Amino acid sequence: MVYEELLAAAVPPLIEWYANNRRTDLPWRKDLSPYRVWISEIMLQQTRVETVVPYYERFLRHLPDVASLAAVPDDELMKLWEGLGYYSRARNLKKAAGIVMAEYGGELPRTAETLRRLPGIGDYTAGAIASIACGAPEPAVDGNVLRVLARLTESDDDVTKEKTKKQVSEQLRKVYPSGREAGLLTEGLMELGETVCLPNGTPLCPLCPWKELCLCHAHGTEDLYPMRTAKKERRTEELTVLLLEKQGTFALCRRPASGLLAGLWQLPNVPGALTKDGVLRAVGGLGLVPESVRAAGRSRHLFTHVEWNMTGWHIQCRDGDSGAENGLSWFAPDQIRTGVALPSAFRFWRQKITENGD
Ligand code: ADE
Repeated sequence: MVYEELLAAAVPPLIEWYANNRRTDLPWRKDLSPYRVWISEIMLQQTRVETVVPYYERFLRHLPDVASLAAVPDDELMKLWEGLGYYSRARNLKKAAGIVMAEYGGELPRTAETLRRLPGIGDYTAGAIASIACGAPEPAVDGNVLRVLARLTESDDDVTKEKTKKQVSEQLRKVYPSGREAGLLTEGLMELGETVCLPNGTPLCPLCPWKELCLCHAHGTEDLYPMRTAKKERRTEELTVLLLEKQGTFALCRRPASGLLAGLWQLPNVPGALTKDGVLRAVGGLGLVPESVRAAGRSRHLFTHVEWNMTGWHIQCRDGDSGAENGLSWFAPDQIRTGVALPSAFRFWRQKITENGD
């Protein structure tokens, strides 16, 4: 069977399987309005389903529609997003909501082409909203979809290449249904990738609606697909994290306006793994007078392209000096727990601060 016929033959059993086997408890499946599908798809892009569920529910409670999202203060938005990572997703959501209010009367546009013009909405998200919420015959191709189709067709195309994604989208578009089935197919492909056609050599083939169609299954080659070129290595950065305490409050500062975690709060930190003397010098350089210094553990955080190896120091500072000229602001532990958005990279130390001690 050639690729297109195989794809066409695979659509009906997948739609039927999804209609009967989908996880019905996922909150974004209860009401398929464009706004709700948009928020869920943005959250799901780089974050696991189980993690997204509580964030999604809280987000929708606070910001139930485009108007409330367009008007939300930045700090509140960051707080709602805290822990999900990739914060530019949240900033783009608000920016796009502003455009939807100004140019589309508060209703998300309903075609993939128009959706794609909004900040943060690429081919995948545009296809997902258009098919799931609007019944348009548009595919939404992410890593899961590439994997299940690479296995179905035993394709040697490198799934890390943009060209492969384009080709797969074009092939899918030729067999895509309209109306309710468009959304069932989009979500069915994702669901199959997340619950059955699992990555890393553990697909649950006996449960698969494609077990009689899948070329990899016929040849026993599931483990070899999808094909991908080697991933780029992450570079490692050493950081020394300063838990600066003064009269029961702790110092935070803003990250630079561009780059990793742009503009978010952070614990003050300096490059390198400093010794105690180095820490004392760094604290002095911030305009503070240290009274005592103790080691406060180590933690590691993985970003997409960088790994932070962090060493913490807890420094009691003399009252009086604020370090404000060096960008420091002081917060009570309770505020740090509930009032400011501190990225997950600092979770280890936030816990120490808010549990009262190190
Ligand atoms: N991953 C991305 N989008 C999804 C969706 N709508 N349902 C389940 N998992 C997903």
